[in-house]
Amino acid sequence: MVQIAILGFGTVGSGIAEVIDGNQEEIRRDFPEGLNVKYILDLRDFPDSPYADRVVHDIDIILNDPEIRVICETMGGKNPAFDFSRRALERGISVCTSNKELVDALGGKLAVVAKEHNCSYLFEASVGGGIPILRPLRTSFSQEFVTDILGILNGTTNYILTKMEEEGLEFSEALKQAQDNGYAEKNPEADIEGYDPCRKIAILASLVTGKNVKYQQVPCEGISAIDKADLAYARRLNRAVKLLGVCHHDRSTGKIFVRTAPYMVPQGHPLHAVNDVFNGILVRGNMVGDLMFYGSGAGKLPTASAVVSDVIECVQNQGRNIDIGLNNTEAELIDPMTTKSRFFVRVSADKAAEAAALFDGIEAVSSEDPAEYAFVTGVVTEAEFAEKSQKLGAKSIRLL
Ligand SMILES: NC(=O)c1ccc[n+]([C@@H]2O[C@H](COP(=O)([O-])OP(=O)(O)OC[C@H]3O[C@@H](n4cnc5c(N)ncnc54)[C@H](OP(=O)(O)O)[C@@H]3O)[C@@H](O)[C@H]2O)c1
Repeated sequence: MVQIAILGFGTVGSGIAEVIDGNQEEIRRDFPEGLNVKYILDLRDFPDSPYADRVVHDIDIILNDPEIRVICETMGGKNPAFDFSRRALERGISVCTSNKELVDALGGKLAVVAKEHNCSYLFEASVGGGIPILRPLRTSFSQEFVTDILGILNGTTNYILTKMEEEGLEFSEALKQAQDNGYAEKNPEADIEGYDPCRKIAILASLVTGKNVKYQQVPCEGISAIDKADLAYARRLNRAVKLLGVCHHDRSTGKIFVRTAPYMVPQGHPLHAVNDVFNGILVRGNMVGDLMFYGSGAGKLPTASAVVSDVIECVQNQGRNIDIGLNNTEAELIDPMTTKSRFFVRVSADKAAEAAALFDGIEAVSSEDPAEYAFVTGVVTEAEFAEKSQKLGAKSIRLL
């Protein structure tokens, strides 16, 4: 049996042990040697767990055991996860992780260490939970130039927007439901302010360019300012409001544009139909066209299943590096203020004439509120829109 270790026995880490034990037969189908969890590193003991005898508290026990071939890092956070991962890779032990924070911040660095030591650093579970997306990007798209990725990458915010839409709830009511049902944390900031999907689109943009895109460089808006009137306007426009991570890779310059923000998505678009806690990722290749990936973007077993798929790929490639096409240089980003969109805009009714004078060819949208004037702009640059909407004191959402 191939021996592995799990660092962090929380939701995902304990799920990995469950996937390996529950599906040993399926694992042996492609990998007859089978997998065994030899060690579990955690701060706590788990006396009531069937894995209690495998729990250790010293990383060196794992790193010094020559039988360990792969480590699953599911502790989360940057440190000591970075240090433990780097030390494992330097010993030729492959590392598979669900830790998007670490992948976004230092994934390029760890990928280089893995290459230097003929082992691998894989992180399928860090984007889209159980949805296979990074491996298809690396394998099925080898012959493609990926021009765009558009993704609903956060289940919590998608659940909140779906509840607002279906049950006519205000944001705060839908957030409370998400918290009551265990979909949102007590402190929901990372989800509702868009930081979590921002990390994921940054990871996808990094893989598309082969260079690092850090989430701090990505313009990021969440959904906390969306209200139920926005959703009603979207319905009138045959659209739905979705929080999207978007990137566009320009083939002629090699530069990439990345953003996380709410968009009004038209009916008929594949992302329009992605509801509740599900994630959906649309990848556009220059030859293949649009491909859609859909499924559980988080959760114990879906996420653990993705980590185990990486483990199997690592052991099948024992002694050599799986090249994920990522190095440690910085990607060149397109200035977001130069990008163009159409915007849905709400202003107070007394600003209607001023709005019409500022924007060419606006289309009015009927409003239930006589104190409000709503309209859709033509295609404008972000810079132009920012200047004009500030004059109007406008609230806006981009149209996809
Ligand atoms: N949960 C999901 O659905 C999901 C989906 C995709 C990605 N992820 C990512 O996967 C990672 C793990 O998430 P999770 O939900 O499984 O978190 P979790 O339930 O909090 O589990 C983390 C575990 O690691 C332990 N740990 C923390 N620091 C440690 C250290 N220095 N040494 C040893 N053990 C340590 C924690 O112990 P204590 O509890 O004692 O602190 C806890 O048992 C995160 O990066 C998360 O963003 C999670």
